[in-house]
Amino acid sequence: MEQPIRFILNDESIETDLHGGTVVLDFLRRHRRLTGTKESCREGDCGACAVLLGELAVDGQAIVQYRVVNSCLLPLGDIQGKHLVSIEGINPPRGGEDAVDTVALTPVQSQLVVHGAIQCGFCTPGFVVSLTGYLLGQRQWSFEGAVDAVAGNICRCTGYASIKRAIVDLLEQVTGSSRSGSSADAADRGRLETLVACGVVPAYFLTIGERLRTLEAPQRQRRRPADYTVVAGGTDLFVQKAEQLMEESLSFVSGVSELRQVREESDRLYLGAGISMAEVKELPELRKRLPQLADALPLIASAPIRNRATLGGNIVNASPIADFTVMLLALGAVLGLKNEKTVRELSLQRFFRGYKQLDMEPGERLEWIALPLEEGNFSFEKVSRRRYLDIASVNSAAWICHRHGRIEKLRLAAGGVAPIPLYLAQGSACLEGQELGDELLEQALDRVQEEISPISDVRGSERYKRLLLRQLLLAHFIKFFPKRIHAEVWA
Ligand SMILES: Cc1cc2nc3c(=O)[nH]c(=O)nc-3n(C[C@H](O)[C@H](O)[C@H](O)COP(=O)(O)OP(=O)(O)OC[C@H]3O[C@@H](n4cnc5c(N)ncnc54)[C@H](O)[C@@H]3O)c2cc1C
Ligand code: FES
Ligand code: FES
Repeated sequence: MEQPIRFILNDESIETDLHGGTVVLDFLRRHRRLTGTKESCREGDCGACAVLLGELAVDGQAIVQYRVVNSCLLPLGDIQGKHLVSIEGINPPRGGEDAVDTVALTPVQSQLVVHGAIQCGFCTPGFVVSLTGYLLGQRQWSFEGAVDAVAGNICRCTGYASIKRAIVDLLEQVTGSSRSGSSADAADRGRLETLVACGVVPAYFLTIGERLRTLEAPQRQRRRPADYTVVAGGTDLFVQKAEQLMEESLSFVSGVSELRQVREESDRLYLGAGISMAEVKELPELRKRLPQLADALPLIASAPIRNRATLGGNIVNASPIADFTVMLLALGAVLGLKNEKTVRELSLQRFFRGYKQLDMEPGERLEWIALPLEEGNFSFEKVSRRRYLDIASVNSAAWICHRHGRIEKLRLAAGGVAPIPLYLAQGSACLEGQELGDELLEQALDRVQEEISPISDVRGSERYKRLLLRQLLLAHFIKFFPKRIHAEVWA
């Protein structure tokens, strides 16, 4: 028998026996009749269903870290011990307890109203949640950051100009009310107090940290993946088979601390498979060692998806266009696959055996991803129908170590050109140990064409994808060797 799931919904403690695979969107709308959270695509694309998810950030301290997530892809089993905030939980009651039906608008809502940023209003709860989550979750606020925070919210009737104007005035308003004059130096608790004081969130938010500490800690996951479907961020699983998951036994791994560890050891950087894309972007170890990788992350999905999507999920889902997996191939990643007793090491290059076929035994779980700590440069390129918020037609990553024009080490990888995320072994080997010039690069690009096998589909014809990859590889080398690669030769 499954354990009940305990969490805080807005200001209320909840315990439920519902199946852990029930998506939070359905729980809110159908079971709690909280219909402010809107249902639209159910695929993580529109942001109408956005909610806030808060969890204790630092062991032993009552500081809650909030992130915006799409409730249509968020399973109930994964919010054990957390604070779930729907749009109904954002407005403070006006006029005391007797007047709970009337609410005061928050500054986020007021600015949207003042700037005429609402027409039918269907998208508005999502925008309000995303902006509120941005103010709660970020130590520094900026116009660009706030715009990125709503990049996963689609409005089909108002357009975005008035929303941007609302954001400008909102930031001015909340920064003006900040006790320190700016949010930049404010400690987390201080920032929350400021946001409560200026009405962005209600006062009960100040009590949540202590209340979460008294909730039972999530059960340590002792289940064997052989018997259960592993659910990490759920951003692939709940798009692919949400209904089927309601029939299965699920193992939620987001609370497993081993899967969220980061450590440097023996010239390797180990990243827990349960680390999210958003967390990767913030890791000081990666920022220091591979700033280009962190900078490429905005090209993946939207902020709410990145808040949930994990590194392990990106690899094990085995999509031929998985962006992060292609990056990891170029970085020479090694996987740690754990069964009940041992951890088996396997090069990521050897993990994919065919379309969605993996070298992973029943009972194994992806535990960590190790990156060699080597001096070199990294580059990632992606072409999709939209520059942001879209999956790739073709993507490519490259890692290089070179001295005085001679390529000492090179790893090239690409997605969308084979049934698997592909390590370009021949193209890489052709250039390694060589002095780069236009002619040699031409030869290497021809070799790459022999090792890929793209197919024509909705993202482009085979010919188009071949040409795209050629151009993306060229883009890496123009970045790495701006003086040696002559643009006029390649025009
Ligand atoms: C709107 C939207 C936009 C997207 N855009 C992009 C994009 O631009 N680029 C991109 O690459 N992807 C994109 N994705 C896909 C997805 O977000 C990523 O692939 C993500 O990294 C999957 O991680 P997850 O934690 O959500 O995986 P889940 O859905 O939880 O799991 C995926 C698979 O991996 C297995 N699994 C997960 N963790 C482990 C583990 N530790 N051990 C063993 N098995 C495991 C699960 O059982 C499942 O089979 C997008 C998805 C959506 C919904
Ligand atoms: S309903 Fe569109 S993102 Fe959830
Ligand atoms: S106001 Fe109608 S969808 Fe945004």
